[in-house]
Amino acid sequence: GDEADWEARPPVVTVMGHVDHGKTKLLDAIRNTNVVAREAGGITQHIGAYQIVTELEDYERPITFIDTPGHESFTAMRARGAKVTDIVILVVAADDGVMPQTVEALNHAQAAEVPIVVAVNKIDKEGANPAKIRQQLTEYGLVAEEYGGDTMFVDVSATTRQGLDELLTAILLTADASLDLRANTEQDPQGVVIEGKLDKGRGPVATVLVQRGTLRQGDSIVAGDAYGRVRSLLDEHGNKLKEALPARPVQVVGLTSVPRAGDTFLVVEEDRVARQIADRRQARIRNAQNASMRKRISLEDLD
Ligand code: GTP
Ligand code: NA
Ligand code: MG
Repeated sequence: GDEADWEARPPVVTVMGHVDHGKTKLLDAIRNTNVVAREAGGITQHIGAYQIVTELEDYERPITFIDTPGHESFTAMRARGAKVTDIVILVVAADDGVMPQTVEALNHAQAAEVPIVVAVNKIDKEGANPAKIRQQLTEYGLVAEEYGGDTMFVDVSATTRQGLDELLTAILLTADASLDLRANTEQDPQGVVIEGKLDKGRGPVATVLVQRGTLRQGDSIVAGDAYGRVRSLLDEHGNKLKEALPARPVQVVGLTSVPRAGDTFLVVEEDRVARQIADRRQARIRNAQNASMRKRISLEDLD
């Protein structure tokens, strides 16, 4: 496309780390919300996606955050989070230290070649030992700048809000230093499904991250093997949007079925084309399922 169509976009930042190390609480502190209070058992079970505008000293800039679950059973979500993101914030509780899902999360980030900023959280707590976290993470190739490495570590407390501005600054510094955050707003809209659910009142709802182009109300969309016309676009507060630019997470209402997390979406000219693509994908999935069933049966025959 035209050079003029390329515009700066916000960084997409995924928050990862061991269960209960404070990922959601940290985002609550940054966003002035209280998502933690609404979670069943205090355990994150879905990926959340939010855009905020930082109000640091000289400039306001938007950042998109993706919150992931830390519970060990959500490996797939951590892998997906690392794939769609520009930067990973690795949250490690200063009183607990490096734990199995800390290591799993940093492995996903390193495999995806995504820069990592370490947020050493809960430094307000008795027994917090931020130096020990730095020491532990050197074993995984994350060496703090103050120890001669190139990984930014920021000590924070989601409870007292200490270090939040430093963390946001570290995110923007990383974005500006190592990433080309431009997107073409005029290309055909594309992106990825972050979550899909069936809502009682609104039917299938997909949270998608727009990665290029501009998604608009009224667009004919294919998401995985689901399709439909975008009836409404909603931001994280439930406000209606006319359009969603790159790096914007939005809820899409109007699909005929629920797409799977990780599915890609695209926009086509006509509803008819959307339906054809979705039908072909459904047929492919059915064939693959039949093939794997046949394989299973023939393996059982060998027993
Ligand atoms: P999962 O998503 O379930 O993996 O957990 P999480 O990493 O999102 O942790 P969450 O935000 O649910 O916080 C876990 C517990 O730690 C909650 O009780 C929080 O109130 C508490 N917590 C989080 N951050 C801090 C902090 O900086 N200081 C203190 N003292 N407690 C914190
Ligand atoms: Na939790
Ligand atoms: Mg959480």
